[in-house]
Amino acid sequence: MIKLLEGGPTFLEDAWDEEDYNLWSLLPGKGRNSTRLYMQLMYSLIRANGCKWLVELGCYLGLTSSVLALAAKKNEGHLWVFDNGSAQPEGKHPLQHADERLQNLGLTKWVTLTDCPSTHAPAAGGFDFVFVDADHSYEGVSKDWEAWNGRVKVGGFMAFHDLMDPEGVSRWAHDTFPRQGWEYLALPGDCGLLLCRKVDM
Ligand SMILES: C[S@@+](CC[C@H](N)C(=O)[O-])C[C@H]1O[C@@H](n2cnc3c(N)ncnc32)[C@H](O)[C@@H]1O
Repeated sequence: MIKLLEGGPTFLEDAWDEEDYNLWSLLPGKGRNSTRLYMQLMYSLIRANGCKWLVELGCYLGLTSSVLALAAKKNEGHLWVFDNGSAQPEGKHPLQHADERLQNLGLTKWVTLTDCPSTHAPAAGGFDFVFVDADHSYEGVSKDWEAWNGRVKVGGFMAFHDLMDPEGVSRWAHDTFPRQGWEYLALPGDCGLLLCRKVDM
């Protein structure tokens, strides 16, 4: 269904190196968590498909941002992060958390952090991977989908966090997600993830 490896079987041998395994240290903590698991899957998809232009909607503490930033660095691309600060963990704007984390990891060069609504998509341009993790409500995810699905290249991905919320992403996906033009994989877990690939215009 979703082709994991566009580059052929030698791609990883050629391109994967020790730094790719730094991924494990970017996701601290020992708790079981489907997000931690699926970030590894998303990272591998981005690397294996050579996705360069990445977007994250909602960064909170910047944990997932750091994983996507490493992928952007390794693929010689860039990550744009959008967060409007509606959550303020430890009394700080999420972009400040993300900035500090990325600075500590030496990854700021590959990231642009923007304080704005998640729907603030550029009017033109094509992205390879959009990770949607901002407002998980039905209305929130609908607006993010409307704003971003047209900005994804054919062959590119959108990933929606929190698929397991029955009234939010899950109900939206059931009601609205197009059955044509996109392939999708529903991954369960405590949060869960809807992983989608644009196959047609
Ligand atoms: C679930 S957290 C993101 C978690 C992060 N991706 C991670 O796993 O490390 C949601 C974030 O989205 C931001 N947010 C919520 N609604 C938003 C909106 N409409 N536009 C932009 N950011 C939003 C919040 O400030 C918060 O930082």
